[in-house]
Amino acid sequence: MTEITLQLDDTPIVTLSAHTEKSLFDTLTDADILLRKACINGACGVCRCRLISGTIDYRGRHPYGLNDGEQADGWILPCIAFPKTDLKLMRLKPQAPK
Ligand code: FES
Repeated sequence: MTEITLQLDDTPIVTLSAHTEKSLFDTLTDADILLRKACINGACGVCRCRLISGTIDYRGRHPYGLNDGEQADGWILPCIAFPKTDLKLMRLKPQAPK
């Protein structure tokens, strides 16, 4: 188990437990934290969150919905990401993919 600390937009900070075998998107959905979604396979980029600290694993998949600069800035795609460590995530305003 890992721990996710999350702040979405103007909401209070939330902390929840996460299993390393469940995607971040599914973990957040199970906690009634709903991200925007479309493809659920890493292609569109609309579910993006910013990883402030911690490590995720895409398990061999590629986050096609993010360009190299976005990845370098810490953006991740929760629909294909699994937590490897405790995570701190943030999402400011929903952003359309570029
Ligand atoms: S829902 Fe499309 S990349 Fe996550």
